[in-house]
Amino acid sequence: MIKNKTKTESESESESSETPLGELAIRTLAMPADANPDGDIFGGWLLSQMDIAGGIVSKQIAKSRTVTIAVNSMTFYRPVVVGDILCCYCSVQSIGKTSISLLVEAWVSRPTEIGSRVKVTEGIFTYVCIDATRRPKKITPSQE
Ligand SMILES: CC(C)(COP(=O)(O)OP(=O)(O)OC[C@H]1O[C@@H](n2cnc3c(N)ncnc32)[C@H](O)[C@@H]1OP(=O)(O)O)[C@@H](O)C(=O)NCCC(=O)NCCS
Repeated sequence: MIKNKTKTESESESESSETPLGELAIRTLAMPADANPDGDIFGGWLLSQMDIAGGIVSKQIAKSRTVTIAVNSMTFYRPVVVGDILCCYCSVQSIGKTSISLLVEAWVSRPTEIGSRVKVTEGIFTYVCIDATRRPKKITPSQE
């Protein structure tokens, strides 16, 4: 049986009253060049912004070079449109021997809608700390 996953209005409202989880890593503007042929912002652009955010935070934690090894999950909750201000927040899911998994949440606010803030996307991104020869390197987490 196919389940109807459409959100009710009250579910959508309660979701938008959530608070972003984690540290604000990047803030940017969705531009016309980032849109798909239908005028919505291209999911690949969103994913890349989230990966940049996670890359910054993983490097801060590892105090070293890191690379993305996996996007373990990705959910697009709402569309993003040209002119939206995109904010990516990161929180640590786990830190292993050489890897760091982060929950990255993307939220948008709209300059024309005062106080609006909606979670549009979230995903789990995993980064590996590497040495100069590009081999995995043990993480010594920063004390910050
Ligand atoms: C990152 C890289 C050096 C890792 O080398 P590797 O020999 O595959 O590493 P390992 O198998 O030892 O795994 C390293 C860590 O990643 C974790 N890992 C591997 N695959 C994973 C996955 N699919 N999801 C989550 N974690 C994963 C391992 O569990 C391990 O974590 P731990 O040390 O904390 O336990 C190598 O895969 C690489 O260079 N990949 C390309 C990276 C890149 O170019 N990214 C940009 C893409 S655009």
